[in-house]
Amino acid sequence: AARAALGVGGGGHAAEAEPRPGVAPGTLALVPTMGALHEGHRSLIRLAREHAEHVAVSIFVNPLQFGPTEDFSRYPRTLETDLEVCAAEGVALVFAPPAAEMYLPDRQVGVSAGTMGTIVEGAFRPGHFDGVLTVVLKLLNLVRPDTAVFGRKDAQQLAMIRRMVADLDVPVEIVGGATVREPDGLALSSRNRYLTPADRATALALSAALNAGARHERAPDVRRAAQAVLDAATRADPPLLPDYLTLADPATFAPVADDHRGEAVLAVAARVGATRLIDNVVLTLA
Ligand code: PAJ
Repeated sequence: AARAALGVGGGGHAAEAEPRPGVAPGTLALVPTMGALHEGHRSLIRLAREHAEHVAVSIFVNPLQFGPTEDFSRYPRTLETDLEVCAAEGVALVFAPPAAEMYLPDRQVGVSAGTMGTIVEGAFRPGHFDGVLTVVLKLLNLVRPDTAVFGRKDAQQLAMIRRMVADLDVPVEIVGGATVREPDGLALSSRNRYLTPADRATALALSAALNAGARHERAPDVRRAAQAVLDAATRADPPLLPDYLTLADPATFAPVADDHRGEAVLAVAARVGATRLIDNVVLTLA
């Protein structure tokens, strides 16, 4: 059986035992993660507590969602500090299975993310969303939470998980949490620790491009303003190497028309040195 650290919550348990308005007794919320926990993950744990009496965190670097040239083997693994973070946040249960216990050696069946898994981020990471949805469904089946909490930082991932829950009638409530950023705008990511100071300066172009786009209300203006910031950063040292910039429907990730009104997500992915970063912002177009 996979290993679970029970009751690491310590002091958190006393707080969790208090009846809280709007939170049904005995309910459980899961925050799935790949560890290397940062303030973004912590904000999801706190959000989870608003939705359920008990909070569980899973920590599992899922080999299925990494491509052959991606950073699976060097992805940061910091279980000891992650357990301290969970204890400090009053997490009731940490589920951190070894990879060999998550996947049967002869496994056959997985979740297909469909066409939506092949566009935008999926176009640059073939099979990525199949791997994400397969592990998320397994985690939901193993932990059986009432609620699962995901960050809007990974907007297409969140949209794909909502799609899976709708298409496969998965009995769980999905909650999205806001993106936590550094004071200068850089979205927190476990991969930020790979950035040299010069990489980091170049990486600021992602959030700067989103901010520039967000100052406009019409799709063509949004795209033009954001693209200009990215273009300038391709001439920086080290250069920004953009993968995509898209203004898309937040639920389907299909590009919006030039005359689109209402919500749209402006999403960007780019490489800096050996590190690949993504970010997005949700806008209301007029
Ligand atoms: P991971 O990258 O560890 O992220 C875990 C959760 O934290 C995701 O829901 C992600 O969107 C959220 N998150 C990351 N950075 C954030 C930030 N700056 N602000 C707010 N939330 C943030 O995403 C995954 O792991 C995996 O794909 C997973 C869903 C666990 C499946 O393996």
